[in-house]
Amino acid sequence: MQEKDLSALTGRNARRQVLTFPQEFVWGVASSSYQMEGNNFNSQWYEWEQRGKILTGECASAACDWWAKAEEDFARAHDLGITGLRLSLEWSRIEPQRGEWSVAAFARYREMLACLKSLGIQPLVTLHHFTHPIWFERAGGFAGPACVDLFTRYAAKCVEALGDLCTFWCTVNEPTVFAGNGYFYGHFPPGRKHDAVAYVRVQANMLRAHAAAYRIIHERQPQSSVGLAHHMLLVEPVDPRNSLDRRANTFYDLVLNSLVLDALACGHGRGLLGALAGDLSMVRGTADYLGVNYYSKRLVGFDLWKPRMLFTHHMMPPDAVPMDPGASNTFGATSPDGIYQVLHKAAALELPIYITENGIADANDTRRPDVLVKTLRAVHRGIEDGLPIRGYYHWSLLDNFEWADGWSARFGLISLDPATQIRTYQRSAYVYSDICHSNAVPVAEP
Ligand code: BGC
Repeated sequence: MQEKDLSALTGRNARRQVLTFPQEFVWGVASSSYQMEGNNFNSQWYEWEQRGKILTGECASAACDWWAKAEEDFARAHDLGITGLRLSLEWSRIEPQRGEWSVAAFARYREMLACLKSLGIQPLVTLHHFTHPIWFERAGGFAGPACVDLFTRYAAKCVEALGDLCTFWCTVNEPTVFAGNGYFYGHFPPGRKHDAVAYVRVQANMLRAHAAAYRIIHERQPQSSVGLAHHMLLVEPVDPRNSLDRRANTFYDLVLNSLVLDALACGHGRGLLGALAGDLSMVRGTADYLGVNYYSKRLVGFDLWKPRMLFTHHMMPPDAVPMDPGASNTFGATSPDGIYQVLHKAAALELPIYITENGIADANDTRRPDVLVKTLRAVHRGIEDGLPIRGYYHWSLLDNFEWADGWSARFGLISLDPATQIRTYQRSAYVYSDICHSNAVPVAEP
């Protein structure tokens, strides 16, 4: 991008000491159906909870009560100055039994989307955010033979039922996290452990499902913008001078981050990963934007004694900000500056970029305000470099049910007491609100 174009898009406003964002920049918050709506009895996660698999022993129950009252939180988002809201559809409500479509579920989603529209908030609708119907799970989930066709049929129904209220779609959320937690670490259903082959194949099937959904949405709604949300973990070698650490880090980076990007860019994965993934040629070019979910940075070293961890051990970088550990003790640490490197990497795809999730588990909101501002400064730096970053969706508007960690990890700008449903604004909500309203972040103190 030309220098003069850039200065029109972004500005260092010396008088107010702020970094101004491009005019159309989307200031958003992100959420997912299972974590917010409550009472999703037909989802594979409901079964998982009933089997006592949530580490805290909790159940999502009413969650944030969005199925009844999402509009109240949408109004709160609007008051904060938010212009985009990412939410997901619960496939298990829409198609509770195979081939049976719920008119009532679509009607409720229509109400929710219409409310967002009336508030001037643009919805970004995710079709699959970790949850799906129990019958789909029994058919093998994304490891099953019919998964691509079944997901595509569902995507077509959604765009037919809701297309007049939404043109901005995210097909799947974080194939790597879904497959990693479900087939390698065992924290998510179906709870398989150390199945590296399934880890790759499930991701590959999700990518095929994404590609087929991309095409069917475009057939029905040519003007739509369709992408997916990719979790990008920032990794560096424990000791950059140690060649084993460097190799372990490169390998880990490849396994964690590369398949989604490679499939979209060139229609195949690299090396063994590519061989296990199989034919991904249909995935090439199937994105109008790339969604980047960025949370954490990790140091990776070689460890001969950890074959099940792909011969790697992990450490928290000294410059990173620790998150609350949660019951699983897996949240690690975030590096606000790290998003800059991640965005540069994402930009190789030459697509518009939306940061579709970013946040920190910090129940007391002691670190979130500072981390938020620093992260957005780093995002601004990326925009100044000419990266096509179009929006930022904070995870999350309010505390929600954090998967296997239950309520033990809190990501909300607004805290929630799930027992009383009382909401309390955290300081970070006001900080973010100022940013949204002014379309700018304060410059760093000298
Ligand atoms: C997921 C969210 C989750 C967040 C915080 C992301 O990987 O998409 O559903 O709540 O991380 O752990």
